[in-house]
Amino acid sequence: MPIQPTTNIWHNGNLIPWDKAQIHVMSHVVHYGSSIFEGIRAYTQGSAASIFRLPEHMLRFEQSGKVYRMPLGYSVDQMCAAVVSVVEANGVAPCYIRPVAFRGYGEIGVNPLKSPVEVYIANYPWGKYVPGNDGANVCISSWNRLAPNTMPAMAKAGGNYMNSQLIRMEAEANGYDEGIGLDVNGYLSEGSGENLFLVRGGTLYTTPLANSVLNGITRDSILTLAKQLGIPVVEQAMPREMLYICDEAFFTGTAAEVTHLRSVDRILVGDGTMGPITKALHDEFFAIVNGTKPDRYNWLTPVNVRAAEPVGA
Ligand SMILES: Cc1ncc(COP(=O)(O)O)c(C=O)c1O
Repeated sequence: MPIQPTTNIWHNGNLIPWDKAQIHVMSHVVHYGSSIFEGIRAYTQGSAASIFRLPEHMLRFEQSGKVYRMPLGYSVDQMCAAVVSVVEANGVAPCYIRPVAFRGYGEIGVNPLKSPVEVYIANYPWGKYVPGNDGANVCISSWNRLAPNTMPAMAKAGGNYMNSQLIRMEAEANGYDEGIGLDVNGYLSEGSGENLFLVRGGTLYTTPLANSVLNGITRDSILTLAKQLGIPVVEQAMPREMLYICDEAFFTGTAAEVTHLRSVDRILVGDGTMGPITKALHDEFFAIVNGTKPDRYNWLTPVNVRAAEPVGA
């Protein structure tokens, strides 16, 4: 889906017009992928709007910068306020929010430290990410996820998404909705832009951080909800065949939200429909973000945007 431009983009402390948010072709990031970013959703609750887990996203943003020795120059609180300001200035909800920081125009050597850090925050309407209302048909990719001593998976860095692009392109070229990467040892890791959960015998399983996964904020939310709903939760390394013999499986992510897997490598997951545990978690997640149940974990940051704006869902 093409990006739908809004009016303003936040850049290093100021709101600038969407079309002026440009960089030089000789910027460090263009050549070496030296960026970090976040993806955040704002939801509507009736006529109100709020941002889902904003401080957690901006903390991960700061920590991605820390891994890459890229100080952002703004505290987490300041960046949360910046996100609110751009969302309110653009007046679009629901929406997707994209903070990005990168090494800009300075030097062209690989060492990024002499190139300035630029921080931008954009937001725009955005709909469903993983296709398939009846669940996603996915494959195990021939591409592995990043080995732990090559690219740090816990940093949400632009360069990591070259690997994600290979996984996603291969999956779509072969007629699947999405691909799942194995880690360097052949254990399940995650989708190109989603964390992975499965259900077997009433227990919820997900892959741990040591299997080269992003520490997803939706993943954390689902783990929290599962514990509260009394669903047993296990984080452990798993072989790929767990996906073939499990009862239910689903992806989580800001973009994918909670998307159940219909099949893996053309093998039906359960009977292919959304299973009861997935549905319980899915419904609880959407009840909170859509405001039909109380925000008992303080996950929502209100924004002063009327919810009647057009969206591109
Ligand atoms: C590789 C990868 N894994 C997992 C996720 C899910 O993370 P979150 O729930 O924080 O969006 C994402 C999306 O950001 C991702 O790109």
